[in-house]
Amino acid sequence: MDTISVWRGTARETEAEAGFPMLQEETATDVVIVGGGITGVTLALNLAEQGTPVVLLEARDIGFGSTGNSTGNLYETISHGIHRIADQWDNDTAHAVAAARREAVAQIERLVEKYNIDCGFRRCALHRYATSEDAKERVENEYQASLKAGLQVRLEQALPSPFPPPHGPVMVLDNQAQFHPQAYVRELARQAANRGCRLFENSKVLEVDTDQRMVRTASGRVTAREIVFATHSPLGLHLVQAEMLVNREYGIAEPMARDSFPAGIFWGAGTDRISVRSVDVGDASFLVCVGEEHKTGHEDTGLSLERLEATARSHVGLREAVFRWSAQNYSPADNLPYIGRDTTGCFIATGFATDGLVYGTVAASVISHQLAGRDDVFAPIVKASRFSPLKGAKGMIEENVTVMKSLIKDYLTERETIALSELMPGKGGIVKIGKMESLAAYRDPDGKLFAVSPVCTHMKCRVHWNSMETSWDCPCHGSRFAPDGAVIEGPATEPLKRTFLPEC
Ligand SMILES: Cc1cc2nc3c(=O)[nH]c(=O)nc-3n(C[C@H](O)[C@H](O)[C@H](O)COP(=O)(O)OP(=O)(O)OC[C@H]3O[C@@H](n4cnc5c(N)ncnc54)[C@H](O)[C@@H]3O)c2cc1C
Ligand code: FES
Repeated sequence: MDTISVWRGTARETEAEAGFPMLQEETATDVVIVGGGITGVTLALNLAEQGTPVVLLEARDIGFGSTGNSTGNLYETISHGIHRIADQWDNDTAHAVAAARREAVAQIERLVEKYNIDCGFRRCALHRYATSEDAKERVENEYQASLKAGLQVRLEQALPSPFPPPHGPVMVLDNQAQFHPQAYVRELARQAANRGCRLFENSKVLEVDTDQRMVRTASGRVTAREIVFATHSPLGLHLVQAEMLVNREYGIAEPMARDSFPAGIFWGAGTDRISVRSVDVGDASFLVCVGEEHKTGHEDTGLSLERLEATARSHVGLREAVFRWSAQNYSPADNLPYIGRDTTGCFIATGFATDGLVYGTVAASVISHQLAGRDDVFAPIVKASRFSPLKGAKGMIEENVTVMKSLIKDYLTERETIALSELMPGKGGIVKIGKMESLAAYRDPDGKLFAVSPVCTHMKCRVHWNSMETSWDCPCHGSRFAPDGAVIEGPATEPLKRTFLPEC
């Protein structure tokens, strides 16, 4: 299935706005940033504005990761509820999170104004409501926790048309915001380049030498005083990977008549968990629905998408999606992101759950302050080197059980395999050929066969087929691979080992 987000499908690129070159040299700089999503690009601009020499390397193109596949909502609370932080940490921490996020939304607004960025930034209200009776109490509790965290929330009794009547009151948080994330991040990258940052696209980092402070791509290398992993999940082995749940979530969008849908962020909690918004791009307008989150590599991706379409149909009358996509998020066990220098000596910025357009902007501020040797009040709260087994105990146990289950299930029990002859065009699956080890095989629509080892190169879990995105997804820490084994995303840096069958 062709998958592209409404953001990447509608981002307008003129010739004058063509992309950035590939790294084809050996160079030295002060700071090398790996990853061109909102975190990397905002940090690049912050550093360029303060005159720090900086190089940014992006594996594909700017916005390729979750940034260009998100919902484009900007808010000071967090999507799973600020009560989680108050419950697991304390009310002061919840206050600090809301304050840092409020400032980040304001920073995005300032940048949009300063650089005249055409990304549809608008202030709007966020609505949180229950779609079923069992979620009513959650909304009420979140309202109380929000008040305690200093959020200016209020209650309403109804939702605008075409939403169905909510179960219980609707919590409203005014003065939040929305934008077109791909248009924003692309223009931010151009502004960083105008201020001296050297940006490279199609420049995937294949090797990192943390001692020598060197990163290598297929056609170049960069030596730097500091390395920042703005890759969503840091590349290679990092402690935080054992403390994060990795999920995929789905998005769909369909064209609609302008102004036929109320402006704002709408989060439905309950049986039908869904996030809904509208967006105007040029002369066109779209209805955008996001939901059906599940652990990476654990569900049938095609069915998840079908479920989201069914929910969007019954909830807001979606007819036919023209954009369909999916993206990854990393949820920290203790509910706070990881930002700063970790035990590898490099900077990381991860654990943003589904709130990373704002957390990524927060991370860019925190890291640029730290690189400049300045204090940052939020930095100790989100310290990347923290290890909080008690705070994160439930999530950590859950995540490590997931990893162990994946390892044990896939290694000790016989995995469902099929014969190679059963692999129809357009299908992928684990195949067994005679006495050979099982293989992860995919036959493309033209009949060409790709076969790779099913053993993830990160920490040896076994990959699972993702039918919607034609990829091999690792259930342990979320690495994803193309049918030919190339790394698409996640902490793995090595491709899946290619196997040549007589038929390949
Ligand atoms: C469906 C969905 C909806 C969401 N909606 C929202 C929302 O409305 N609001 C919100 O605040 N958050 C939202 N989020 C979360 C948010 O999108 C992410 O947290 C955020 O975009 C992360 O930004 P990032 O720059 O850290 O990572 P990314 O945007 O993922 O960027 C990382 C970049 O690193 C590059 N990269 C990876 N490996 C390498 C390598 N080896 N070499 C070079 N480059 C590399 C990738 O290609 C990628 O471009 C959503 C998430 C999902 C899944
Ligand atoms: S991503 Fe860690 S084992 Fe696959």
